[in-house]
Amino acid sequence: MTQVTHRSHWTNRWTFILATAGSAIGLGNIWKFPYMTGVNGGSAFVLVFLACIALVGIPLMMCEIMLGRRAQRNPVDGMLALAAEANAAGIWKWVGIMGLIAGLLILGFYSVIAGWILDYVVRAASGMFKGMDGKLAQEHFAAFLATPLELILWHTLFIAMTMGVVARGVNAGLEQANKILMPALFAILLVLLGYSMAVGNFADSARFMFTPDFSKVTPGAVLSALGHAFFSLSLGMGAVMVYGSYLQPHISIARTTMYVAIADTAVGLLVGLAIFSLVFANGLEPAAGPGLIFQTLPIAFGSMPAGSLMGTLFFVLVAFAAWTSAISLVEPAIAWITENTPITRKRAALMIAMVDWLLGIAVVLSFNEWKDVKLLFGLNIFDTLDKLTTNIMLPLGGLLMAIFAGWVMQTRHVREELGIAVRAYALWRFTIRFISPLAIVAIFLYLFGLIK
Ligand code: PFF
Repeated sequence: MTQVTHRSHWTNRWTFILATAGSAIGLGNIWKFPYMTGVNGGSAFVLVFLACIALVGIPLMMCEIMLGRRAQRNPVDGMLALAAEANAAGIWKWVGIMGLIAGLLILGFYSVIAGWILDYVVRAASGMFKGMDGKLAQEHFAAFLATPLELILWHTLFIAMTMGVVARGVNAGLEQANKILMPALFAILLVLLGYSMAVGNFADSARFMFTPDFSKVTPGAVLSALGHAFFSLSLGMGAVMVYGSYLQPHISIARTTMYVAIADTAVGLLVGLAIFSLVFANGLEPAAGPGLIFQTLPIAFGSMPAGSLMGTLFFVLVAFAAWTSAISLVEPAIAWITENTPITRKRAALMIAMVDWLLGIAVVLSFNEWKDVKLLFGLNIFDTLDKLTTNIMLPLGGLLMAIFAGWVMQTRHVREELGIAVRAYALWRFTIRFISPLAIVAIFLYLFGLIK
């Protein structure tokens, strides 16, 4: 395939692993995963989620990196070039286009929640959690959600932080940010884990998350777990594809995928364990929903030794995680603009910032002034964006990528790019051709009510 010249590449395989782990580890792990586990009955959800990561997530991440590296282009032109190489129709470029749109839609709500996190860093640091009880925590959170201006300011700051990194490019921006933020994130995580083991109720937390109770596995929980596997590993929208397109040829895709998937899953599980030990030690409710870390954790931190410091560290950790994910949400669109138009990276970042800033304002309003405005499926703006992207667009993107790699591309090309041993390749190919697509289709059929 013809190569595009003058594209940036990661300095080495570790910077790629850090950046991809940075994309994967985010609000999905720390904000969403614990509350989804809480709402969906604990261990049952965790086990189904782990199965989805192993059966669908890992093979698809290898697939997405492989597509990106072979194409050496942004996801839209990349799919077009790969389709041409396989003598297939240009319509495959729509996988890339849908991905770019999904990224922009996700950032629309992601940045609003990340804005809440920034606000909670300040709250924790100013000692506001001290002596907080359940009623007060709920009142604070509700009052916060009822002030659109404040929410918009935090959302604006987060968009500026994200675009500030993206505008600097792959090496000076993305790579540099991940090199600093990710080690800091791991260090904070270890401190928090030690803290919650020392002062929390670790045994109950582990029981809640790991004692299998399959009676609680409902079809709805399976759907959520699969959607979340996509969201958590950043799959199905071209973020991993564009990161893969900056990867040098000799690096093992299988090995880097395993590192990223293990890091992502481990962070989700460890944060979950830490959070639920604080929740149980304080007799709080694990099924509190999206407000879990905003309403229950302040109570826990407020009554524990060194709570203000630990609370601040916790929210800084979440902010770092969200930041490194947000930059990957816009990179596909930025790559597409800069590779197709004379527009500079800085300008492109500014343009996308405007789009997502406006979208975010609509999301902010859906928590207060526009609470009753319903979009798709009778859901408000925030829920519509979340469900549309997580449960539909990402799995659909993943399904199409699996079909493309498994059925459309020439085996020779796929093997060449993956470079794995014969047996491992056969296993991967079988999964990507049959298991992953069937799992996704089954979930879609359930979603549309065709199977009960
Ligand atoms: N994986 C991120 C998280 O778990 O928060 C969210 C995400 C980032 C989804 C990038 C999709 C994506 F392309």
